[in-house]
Amino acid sequence: MSDAGNMKFQLMLAPMEGATGSAFRALCHKNGADLTFTEIARVSNLARAKKGELEKIAIPDATPTQIQLAGAKLPEYEKFLASFKPTAGFRGFNLNLGCSSPDFLRQGLGAAMVKRVSRVNEIVSLISKHGYECSIKMRLGADNYEKQKGAYLNLISAVDASFFVVHARTAKQTLSDKADFSVYEKCVATGKKIVANGDIKTKEQVAALRQQGLYGAMVGRAAMGNPKVFKVLHEG
Ligand SMILES: Cc1cc2nc3c(=O)[nH]c(=O)nc-3n(C[C@H](O)[C@H](O)[C@H](O)COP(=O)(O)O)c2cc1C
Repeated sequence: MSDAGNMKFQLMLAPMEGATGSAFRALCHKNGADLTFTEIARVSNLARAKKGELEKIAIPDATPTQIQLAGAKLPEYEKFLASFKPTAGFRGFNLNLGCSSPDFLRQGLGAAMVKRVSRVNEIVSLISKHGYECSIKMRLGADNYEKQKGAYLNLISAVDASFFVVHARTAKQTLSDKADFSVYEKCVATGKKIVANGDIKTKEQVAALRQQGLYGAMVGRAAMGNPKVFKVLHEG
């Protein structure tokens, strides 16, 4: 077991476009979510200070929140970070390497970035250079071929992010396909902090993940139906 076994198991509210605004994040934190995330925002729009995009990343209270970003161009990150001002609840940035929309994948963004290891490393370094923590939320790769080749393990091993949320599906899979929890053993073996994501809703699942040495679990749809789910999962 990694040293994650000695730390408090982290329960996180997943970023969900149109659902995880500040009021819902605060409610989930009150009910036991240790960390929350803003919905996906495009760095290209943030760099141009687009009002709607800036609203997506606003953190108006002290709820512990990471800002989720999608983008691959370093100059856009530079421009955005130069004007970024952290507020009380801000706990760092999270890179989206999981979005599976065809539009994103065509542009080499979202889950297509799982295999762009050196670019991801450059982005994480740039964010760290500005003094901010950076985590990653990723799928297992674009498709089953990339998953079998271990693209997600290459990325986890090579990138120096604060933790990795591994949504246990490929970009080809939909949210109704079963998440593959068998991948976590190899993820944990990298020695990095790993957070499980996909269909997590029971105390038994959380107990099994803790046992395996995961750093935490991220909950999405189960929290939408019931924000108190975090209380129940922590009690487990
Ligand atoms: C309505 C909706 C919106 C989502 N928006 C985002 C998003 O903005 N960023 C992201 O990384 N994942 C997004 N996701 C994926 C979730 O964060 C999560 O990875 C997925 O729902 C699996 O977790 P769950 O089974 O606990 O719901 C979204 C999912 C849903 C259902």
